[in-house]
Amino acid sequence: MDKDYSDFLGLVKELGALDQIGGLLTWDEETYIPPGAVPDRAIQKAALTGIVHERLTSKKMGRLLSVLKKRPRLAPDQRVIVREMARKHKRATAIPKELLQEISKTESLAMQAWVKARKARDYRSFEPLLRKMLGLKARVAECVGYEDRPYDALLDEYEPYMKTAEVEALFSRFRDKLVPVVSRILDCSTKVDDSPARGDFPEEGQRRFLMEIIRQTGYDLERGRMDVAPHPFTVGSMRDVRITVRYDPHDLRPAVFGAIHEAGHGMYEQGYLEKYYHTPLAESISLGIHESQSRMWENIVGRGLPFWRHFLPKLQGVFPSMSGVRVEDFQRAVNTVKRSFIRVEADEVTYNLHVMLRFEVENAIFSGKLKTPEIPGFWNERFESYLGLRVPDDAQGCLQDIHWSIGALGYFPTYSLGTIYATQLYDKAKKDIPGLEDQFAQGNFGGLLGWLRKNVHSQGKRYGASDLIKRVTGEGLNEDHFLRYLKQKYGAIYGISL
Ligand code: CO
Repeated sequence: MDKDYSDFLGLVKELGALDQIGGLLTWDEETYIPPGAVPDRAIQKAALTGIVHERLTSKKMGRLLSVLKKRPRLAPDQRVIVREMARKHKRATAIPKELLQEISKTESLAMQAWVKARKARDYRSFEPLLRKMLGLKARVAECVGYEDRPYDALLDEYEPYMKTAEVEALFSRFRDKLVPVVSRILDCSTKVDDSPARGDFPEEGQRRFLMEIIRQTGYDLERGRMDVAPHPFTVGSMRDVRITVRYDPHDLRPAVFGAIHEAGHGMYEQGYLEKYYHTPLAESISLGIHESQSRMWENIVGRGLPFWRHFLPKLQGVFPSMSGVRVEDFQRAVNTVKRSFIRVEADEVTYNLHVMLRFEVENAIFSGKLKTPEIPGFWNERFESYLGLRVPDDAQGCLQDIHWSIGALGYFPTYSLGTIYATQLYDKAKKDIPGLEDQFAQGNFGGLLGWLRKNVHSQGKRYGASDLIKRVTGEGLNEDHFLRYLKQKYGAIYGISL
């Protein structure tokens, strides 16, 4: 290996290690930190962020990148690492320090204003800071640059290489097909009883059951752990991945599906190749692909009948009160569909309508078709046409999510992209692995995990999301996989033909 490349790789790995440290600081802050240490943690994180930014934008990094980009004989792996570091370097150097500081200041002000406004159901008190934040993000887009639309530059932070126009076309097809399916399910006369999932479930028993589930699905507890956090999340990668859950002592669903979801994220992070540790070849492709892993395990696998054929007897072993419950009834109980205002409480059928609405707002703002004072009207009108519910106040409408206050613009679409990636990948896995779902019923999840390891996890950032999907499944992004899955699953649960 030549000197320039090995110097470069040294910097890359150091940045990777710093990133991992940042993750640990966050994990600790959300789990075990003593209350008195919280203010220190903000200082520690700011110090670390400063160091990462300095290293990433350093003259040395810039020089090595420009030398290596011109080098004709880099190996394919090396080319990917150089390409991805060049993207990070370019983005980090493009945004002036003053702008970043202005954003971080506005972030804390806007978040406080958002908390108050949501409580008071008063959008107008939040609007000026939201307008300011959106203006700052528009400046970010100008600094970073884009070929087609300013929103591209924001989307690129969460879903690299994806373009606004692509998402727009995909979502508009998806929404037009999804709306009628959703209303047929919601308007049918069948009522699904969710009482089998509710009852008295002490935390200790739930925890024992969750550990059994995540261990068997393939989350490696030698290289990971599971703790409690109010807003569950996953951090870390490779040899140190940490997931979190929250328990509801009267309802199994938050902890069970939360744990399967986070373990799905965790198995992705544990699935990179050792030799690439702390380089972009051991990093996730995008938030959308990350979410495809968690949603595949949570919804397609974890809310399916074969899964519960194996796990219901174990659940009954932990909670003998469940002993009379039939597997079909339990599976129905964990797949109820209902109209709701709040995205994070929505089921997998209605969820994507909540998400696509948010993308439509962001897209309209950044293409100059919508002004911030008009957001509630725009929101409420579309919400009613998609979900058939009249929004009673902005707390249950456009004020419900934290994302906009902290400047996370371009983030929402990744949730629905994840859904689409998940079913498309899963359909291919099912084709490649005969009897896949019979394996689940036997408690064997290694077939699916091995397939994901080979086709997705071990690839790191080698390909962009659309390229990966195309290479693995042989076709471009196709929302029909998800629609077929919905129709089949919910047709059976609700006893209707969709
Ligand atoms: Co997730």
